[in-house]
Amino acid sequence: MAERDRESIIQQCTRFVPAWAGASRTPADVFRELADRAGPRGDVYGEGESVARLESRIAGLLGKESAAVFPSGTMAQQIALRILCERRGRRTVTSHPQCHLELHEEKGYEHLHGLHLRLVGNRNRLITLEDLEEIAEPIGVLLLELPQRNLGGQLPSWDDLVAQTAWARERDVALHLDGARLSQCGAYYERELRDNAERFDTVYVSLYKDLGGLGGCVLAGPEDLIAEARVWRVRHGGRLSSFEAIALSAELGLDEVLPRMPSFVSKAQEIGAALARVDGIDVLPDPPQVALLHVFLRGELERLRDAVLDIADERRILIARWLAPTPLPDVQATELGVGASTLEVPTDEIAEYYAELVMRA
Ligand SMILES: Cc1ncc(COP(=O)(O)O)c(C=O)c1O
Repeated sequence: MAERDRESIIQQCTRFVPAWAGASRTPADVFRELADRAGPRGDVYGEGESVARLESRIAGLLGKESAAVFPSGTMAQQIALRILCERRGRRTVTSHPQCHLELHEEKGYEHLHGLHLRLVGNRNRLITLEDLEEIAEPIGVLLLELPQRNLGGQLPSWDDLVAQTAWARERDVALHLDGARLSQCGAYYERELRDNAERFDTVYVSLYKDLGGLGGCVLAGPEDLIAEARVWRVRHGGRLSSFEAIALSAELGLDEVLPRMPSFVSKAQEIGAALARVDGIDVLPDPPQVALLHVFLRGELERLRDAVLDIADERRILIARWLAPTPLPDVQATELGVGASTLEVPTDEIAEYYAELVMRA
């Protein structure tokens, strides 16, 4: 089906099983609500009341001294890694083979900052302490991603997390947390966000994923490090003339989405249990640990894609945003990010649509 048809079919949908871009509200929802929040004056180059308030709220939630807003996680993480490495006189960062830096950033850490990435562990499972113990070269930073998005949002046990961060501390290896979706982790660990964050020197959280803001992220850490990161933000061309819309929309998320996160995680678990009972479907992880899961469907890729659109066309419900091939030719994968729109669809109905999808394919 032509791409234009696909878009117009999706436009006509009124219900969405996967939350919008992993967020719980659409850009249209955000724009409507921002009008009421905007004050008479915005920020100028990041200096202003609403930006300062957002930065200090997130620093507080993460238990960090300071925080700064950035246009993207890609920019903020590279900057954090550069500073952490430079302070240790080492250039190597170690991280999971499916980390965002490796897969989606065109090796910016290397081209822009002269850093090296030493991937550790197996791409299909989380990093273990044993994986770290095999590293025989000097490492500046250990970057961990909680939850590990490309593994269906898996999380290490608390004990594993403690052991891995202790491994780093014993070797004077700095710790950076890719917490793009950190707000999803509370339910699994039954801890506050700051309990996760305190094990790391620097933490990045996205403002547009879980929180549904209009873009950007926040980098949090010690005051001197964040002050230096602000200098690098200028060097990267990342000091936008205004961060106002980003900051206000992210605050909306803090106020209205964050408190709903436990219900999103429960729904992901319900969906996981229901889909795991459908013939031809597997979920990862089983049970889901955060407000997202990966779903593996038996069937041919194009037939499944067509079936998703047929269901969308006939019933005005989008049940999968994308389908991607897996190493098994007869199995395709999709990601279900759970948010407010997901909650509006009963779990039994979601399972029925997925069963139908596999049957049609
Ligand atoms: C785990 C993870 N880290 C980092 C990023 C980078 O964030 P940004 O899109 O703001 O550059 C993403 C974005 O998808 C992500 O999923």
